[in-house]
Amino acid sequence: MSAGWTWYVLIMTLASVAACFWLIVWTNRQRASESEIAASEAHVWDEDIRELNNPLPMWWLWSFIITLVWGIGYFVMYPSFSDTGGLLGWSQEAQYEAQVAAAEERYGPIFASYGAMAVEELVDDPKAMNIGASLYANYCSQCHGANALGAAGFPNLTDDTWNWGGSPANIEYAITNGRNATMPALGAVFASDEAINEMVRYVRNMANEMDTTSPAHATYMQLCVACHGPTGQGMQAVGAPSLADDVWLYGSSESAVRKSFVAGRNGVMPAHMNMLGSDRIRILSAYIYSLSR
Ligand code: HEC
Ligand code: HEC
Repeated sequence: MSAGWTWYVLIMTLASVAACFWLIVWTNRQRASESEIAASEAHVWDEDIRELNNPLPMWWLWSFIITLVWGIGYFVMYPSFSDTGGLLGWSQEAQYEAQVAAAEERYGPIFASYGAMAVEELVDDPKAMNIGASLYANYCSQCHGANALGAAGFPNLTDDTWNWGGSPANIEYAITNGRNATMPALGAVFASDEAINEMVRYVRNMANEMDTTSPAHATYMQLCVACHGPTGQGMQAVGAPSLADDVWLYGSSESAVRKSFVAGRNGVMPAHMNMLGSDRIRILSAYIYSLSR
């Protein structure tokens, strides 16, 4: 919170507390006169419902006062001013760090024992798979989807199509170090719009056949073969997807395919080593590995 807001909240809070105190003092001093009491008690509804003018019940008054005193105590003990931690020295960060340290102490040894196991063993351990599922929900689902089915630009992790390889080692590498795919923007290399359209048709048709009679075929063999391979099978070393199957990272529509090679793509899978550490990554790798089997 900026200093301006801190002061705003501070002044509003203190003013409200002061106003409540004043209200109590003021209402206590205001003693209604006999005639005023008599006048208000003369109001009668439905023959027997009378308006009385009684002082506030003592229990209510006291609980109100206690609430106010409590509020002030809270104000002093906890950090109400941005730059002090209050008398208790409490801070959100310190509390968070203490909880993380406690969790690490409790779960660290469990994670470490799983971290020492091979992915192929972990896959058969239901407890490890449960932990993997909750790690997945916390750290991966925002990009790869709650069911790991992916979305445009975010690969499906449950099928057996892998742009970077689906071996335990490949999966573990992707999570640990991240992956950075570069599909260069090649639109400018094409001589005409018609040539681009022809390439779109050629690529979209690749799952059916490698049409060597298409005018785009020669261009493909020049511009694309280095990464996507002579049969369009792709290349895992650079994360180039197969163009010869029905699985599309960015979609199969004409416009999606055109955009992929005209404007280029740059898929980034972030590295998670610092966030998760190798033990948790081992458990997650096994979980991901299990999804595709
Ligand atoms: C330098 C290597 C390289 C070259 C050359 C290259 N590509 Fe790619 N291509 C990639 C990579 C890597 C990706 C994946 C991009 C990503 O994941 O963000 C990709 C993705 C694509 C996609 C999207 C596939 C999908 O599943 O959605 C299409 C379509 C494509 N390339 C077509 C082409 C065509 C056509 C050419 C030639 C004109 C070409 N590429 C040349 C590396 C290359
Ligand atoms: C910020 C979004 C994001 C998060 C968070 C994320 N990923 Fe990814 N991930 C991606 C993208 C984008 C790619 C595709 C990179 C490319 O274009 O090749 C990817 C690729 C992958 C791959 C390689 C897939 C293949 O086909 O080879 C694996 C495995 C993977 N992610 C697992 C995970 C796991 C496990 C987590 C949780 C720890 C995770 N990802 C978290 C965005 C994310």
